[in-house]
Amino acid sequence: MSAVARALAPDDDVLAGLRASPKRLPCRLLYDATGAELFEQITGVDDYYPTRIEYRLLDEILPSVAEDMGAAARVIEPGAGAGCKTRRLLRALYAPASYVGIDVSREILEQTHRTLARELPTVDVQTVCADFTRPYKLPAPRRSIGKTLAFFPGSTIGNFEPFDAVMFLSGLAHMAGHNGRLLLGADGTHDPEALVRAYDDSDGVTAQFNLNVLDHLNRTRGARFDLAMFRHRAVWNERHSRVEMHLVSQREQTVDVGGAVIHLGQGEPIVTEHCYKHSVQAMRSMLHAAGWEARQVLTGTEQPMRLWWCAPLVRPVQTRTGL
Ligand code: AVJ
Repeated sequence: MSAVARALAPDDDVLAGLRASPKRLPCRLLYDATGAELFEQITGVDDYYPTRIEYRLLDEILPSVAEDMGAAARVIEPGAGAGCKTRRLLRALYAPASYVGIDVSREILEQTHRTLARELPTVDVQTVCADFTRPYKLPAPRRSIGKTLAFFPGSTIGNFEPFDAVMFLSGLAHMAGHNGRLLLGADGTHDPEALVRAYDDSDGVTAQFNLNVLDHLNRTRGARFDLAMFRHRAVWNERHSRVEMHLVSQREQTVDVGGAVIHLGQGEPIVTEHCYKHSVQAMRSMLHAAGWEARQVLTGTEQPMRLWWCAPLVRPVQTRTGL
């Protein structure tokens, strides 16, 4: 395809984002092989609290999750990543039958498939290489299964715009079926200091993670971003209750992005990620709108990172008063 045809492709969210105001890039660009690796590193740094809290909450909730799920469960996990939390979940369940991991990074997916299949030989491991924010086809289970559990940890729900989050959660409700369950991890921290520390850590790993987006575009799109001309910044946007990751242009510059010319002013940001920090009330009403009812909510002590255990919402039967 010619550069012009590529530049004009209607579904090109990269160029559309770079031409919008403020400039935006889709956050899936953070998760190529390098980005996925850097993210795994982030989960281990002191300043990044969500992962460490979520592990504690998982240990706390898993016995009752196993009880409720019963035997032969099917676990579906969008954004499987390295599968560390998956392993804990599958080990806690009674004879789980099937696991489906969905991830954009083929390398990570293959690695996770191999380790899970080896460590849990009785589980039928299936993988789908896809961007889970777009439509994809779920493989049919290859054995008979009990209940289906949608597993969405890590506060990744916060990376969706609120309306999209509801659509996504309602997709999970559809996928899990009338007897399905949802185990959701969502951070509700509103402390600006803790948030900026978590998203601009003193080890500089998040900065590398964010800058890798430009490198990713250089490698896959023939873009010519000079990484030294951008700085990572994390901003708490209180009005929207979200952390924003920015790449700030250090000077006025023009960048070739696969044949398209993008102009940046000095100090102009490119927004690469929104991390919404939904309050309990906000999360509950989003779940409701998506057809889920929270049965159990665990909250961390260090920060209000939460695990939500949900079942399909039973809507009250309409009583016909006019008859
Ligand atoms: C993708 C939700 C797990 O938003 O906290 C971490 C991504 N971005 N540091 C988050 C992220 C910067 C992370 N999750």
